[in-house]
Amino acid sequence: MRLRAVRLPSVARSPQFFLNSLAASALENVSDTLTLTRPDDFHLHLRDGAALASVAGFTARQFGRALVMPNLKPPVTTVAMALAYRDRILRALPAGVAFEPLMTLYLTDRTGVDEVARVAESGAVKAFKYYPAGATTNSDSGVTSLKNVYGVLDAMQRHGVVLCVHGEVTDPATDVFDREAIFVEQSLTQVVRDFPALRIVVEHITTREAADFVSAAPAHVGATITPQHLLYNRTSIFTGGIRPHFYCLPILKRETHREALVEAAISGSPKFFLGTDSAPHARNSKETCCGAAGCFTSHAAIELYAEAFDAVGAIDKLDAFASRFGAEFYGLPRNADTITLLRESWSPPEEFAFGNETIVPLTQGRTLAWKMQ
Ligand code: NCD
Ligand code: ZN
Repeated sequence: MRLRAVRLPSVARSPQFFLNSLAASALENVSDTLTLTRPDDFHLHLRDGAALASVAGFTARQFGRALVMPNLKPPVTTVAMALAYRDRILRALPAGVAFEPLMTLYLTDRTGVDEVARVAESGAVKAFKYYPAGATTNSDSGVTSLKNVYGVLDAMQRHGVVLCVHGEVTDPATDVFDREAIFVEQSLTQVVRDFPALRIVVEHITTREAADFVSAAPAHVGATITPQHLLYNRTSIFTGGIRPHFYCLPILKRETHREALVEAAISGSPKFFLGTDSAPHARNSKETCCGAAGCFTSHAAIELYAEAFDAVGAIDKLDAFASRFGAEFYGLPRNADTITLLRESWSPPEEFAFGNETIVPLTQGRTLAWKMQ
């Protein structure tokens, strides 16, 4: 395996990066403004209550729609709960903002096939989220064995309901950096084989193995990719000391995996689309002896993606990845309006209010190269 020195926390650099950035700089004068169809975020954590009110506006400013994750306490397990949560989200938005929350249900060992039929009829609920029990933040109610939900997966396949998958094994003896690749090999392969028409999104992929699996799978298997997994590798978590704001799950991986994700994102394949996994946690629950997993990016999400695409001279591929492929996967129309990014250096705030507490964003201490107008 080749190991490369990386200069972080700016964008991880590789020889390909330098070649592509030469190409990019040749275009610089003609590409300082970028207009995109308004993008959608197909993986977002909005929380609830005062925390929801603090963060919802950031996403609504940039995105037309977002697929809202159901890992509240208690989790959102029924259509009725999802519709009530949707109302709370709409009420938390700044006045006059047009934003559509797309809802998800949290799959548990006890989810019934009736709930699948209700999801299919609901319109507002777009998917079930599968968390292996104990895999990540608020996943205690997750599925303890895939076999427990086979009846429900069969109903989802029949009704055309999407399954969003947190793809990590949870065996505590499995190395944390291997958990996704092993899940792909053991569990995902089996689900795709046993449910050949089930629509699946492998969420926040972080490895070459996951990207290769999704590329080779049928067209109804897609994946979301976060900005942090496109911009950073696992060395970023330990640069100059331990950096809790770079800790999310699945955890950042080696540089070779980051490169594979960038290749997938810029490939033009409609299977790969934007999902930030922006996951706000209060500063004191990240900067502590047992810090929570999750990176907050929704204040500058599209700018972070622009930076990742621009770094490899592929800014022209951002519109389809951010604004088209996800909507197509979910059978939704493209958003009707546009957003504009300017190539302009700026520094986002170092922290934001989060209810009575504060959140530290992933961009802390960084200058960004693109800014949404
Ligand atoms: C997410 C959260 O905080 O809710 N955390 C994370 O590290 N991504 C949960 C998740 O998506 O795994
Ligand atoms: Zn998530």
